[in-house]
Amino acid sequence: MPVLITPRTTEKSINSEESKTQQHSRGANAMVQLHSITKTYTNGCHALVDVSLEVKHQEFLFITGPSGSGKSTLLKLLYGEELPTQGEVIVDDCNVKTLRGDRLSLLRRRIGIVFQDYKLIPQRTVAENVTFVLQAQGYTRKEIQRRLEPTLKLVGLLSKADCFPDQLSGGEQQRVSIARAIVGTPPLILADEPTGNLDPDNSWQVMQILQKLNTFGATVIVTTHDEQLVRRCNHPVVQVRNGRIDRQSSRVHSH
Ligand SMILES: Nc1ncnc2c1ncn2[C@@H]1O[C@H](COP(=O)(O)OP(=O)(O)OP(=O)(O)O)[C@@H](O)[C@H]1O
Ligand SMILES: [Mg+2]
Repeated sequence: MPVLITPRTTEKSINSEESKTQQHSRGANAMVQLHSITKTYTNGCHALVDVSLEVKHQEFLFITGPSGSGKSTLLKLLYGEELPTQGEVIVDDCNVKTLRGDRLSLLRRRIGIVFQDYKLIPQRTVAENVTFVLQAQGYTRKEIQRRLEPTLKLVGLLSKADCFPDQLSGGEQQRVSIARAIVGTPPLILADEPTGNLDPDNSWQVMQILQKLNTFGATVIVTTHDEQLVRRCNHPVVQVRNGRIDRQSSRVHSH
């Protein structure tokens, strides 16, 4: 990504032979692979049923579907927040199910997550919210400063660096959550309804940021209810319904 970042070499590969899966010829260029995933929550709810999906490096994918269809569950499986009941989840060549502790943390460093409800820390400024994770990961102060400014600039919040979350509009808060997700330059960005609470102008701004990151090389997966936005962006779409992939547009590889 030109404005930001070269990944730190220590983070370049988190793959040990153990966690590396055999690459199928079909999956060699895949950032994400779901192989016959079923997710049944402990209360018996079948959130996903026999879902297979492949997302290639540098692809931009929308996941749409009605409320309760399994979109958030699908994203949670990708960053190991939930484990599949059956099937395999492969992200960046790692089998997520087999990762624990440090290895899972290392994978998560390579995934930028934009939560629908922002999850900002109210007592911290915009700049602190964005850099908090980098500090926790042991980045130097200099490196954090090097990353902060271009990231805030990208999301249009440079002038708000010292504001607290409750001094920002909803759209601005959402952009802080995007800045926090991308400041570590993850190769994979997962955004769960990033425009869910925004008006059309703000929604479009957020989509433009995500699309820009995609042109810089990130793989981006976005869940949304906003069909108009999906049409306007012209990226591949997967529709989830009752926990199954119901329909998908071109350029997406299901097997
Ligand atoms: N922790 C949980 N325990 C039990 N059931 C759950 C849990 N999380 C989600 N579910 C159920 O799994 C199904 C899929 O939920 P999920 O949150 O993935 O849907 P979604 O498509 O993201 O919906 P929305 O558009 O409303 O965000 C729903 O029926 C939901 O009630
Ligand atoms: Mg959801």
